[in-house]
Amino acid sequence: MKSTLLAWFSFLLFAFVLSVPSIEADTEPVLDIQGEELKAGTEYIITSIFRGAGGGDVAATNKTCPDDVIQYSLDVFQGLPVTFSPASSEDDVIRVSTDLNIKFSIKKACDRSSVWKIQKSSNSEVQWLVTTGGEEGNPGCDTFTNWFKIEKGAGTFGYNYKLVFCPEDICPSVGLCRDVGIYFESNRGRILSLSDKLSPFLVVFRKVGPLSSSI
Ligand SMILES: *[C@@H]1O[C@H](CO)[C@@H](O)[C@H](O)[C@H]1NC(C)=O
Repeated sequence: MKSTLLAWFSFLLFAFVLSVPSIEADTEPVLDIQGEELKAGTEYIITSIFRGAGGGDVAATNKTCPDDVIQYSLDVFQGLPVTFSPASSEDDVIRVSTDLNIKFSIKKACDRSSVWKIQKSSNSEVQWLVTTGGEEGNPGCDTFTNWFKIEKGAGTFGYNYKLVFCPEDICPSVGLCRDVGIYFESNRGRILSLSDKLSPFLVVFRKVGPLSSSI
């Protein structure tokens, strides 16, 4: 009896030890507006969950050569597509709570990188702005400003998410963890920013392709 129990116990322990890493490696995939998994390297438009007034696509203040990351206040303007690339590229599915580079997908070469990063703001109301000029890959403390995460958004409304800056696995000593919100600046418009005063910008992802214009 005793040995059966022991065998059963070691089996449970073994099963537990085996299952832990796979739970961690397999967080939920992020889904686009059609319920399909987001894929690394595929182009998406990031857009507000709200349509109409105040609900527009994410773009840059300069669409030819992207600089600061903004959100259009009107949904009639087409946003600038982005691609995602995870810090650990074990599969090509984009998953919630994983570190990602976000890059504007542009046709023409620019002298400035189109990889998103955060940059200290001179404005006292927001601490950090989201802009471009970041570096892709090389996760570590030298590149901590370039890593974002996608987390599940609020409530039960469809496939909604928020963008988060929280590079706790990339560089634990940074200690900065904030939702990306929208801050209105008169010269730049609705700029994506980090601040403890802003509410999270709730978004959905629309795959760029032949169908995207009909959604
Ligand atoms: C956008 O960037 C390009 C390339 O740097 C520049 O030539 C152009 O003047 C910029 N446009 C605006 C509106 O700033």
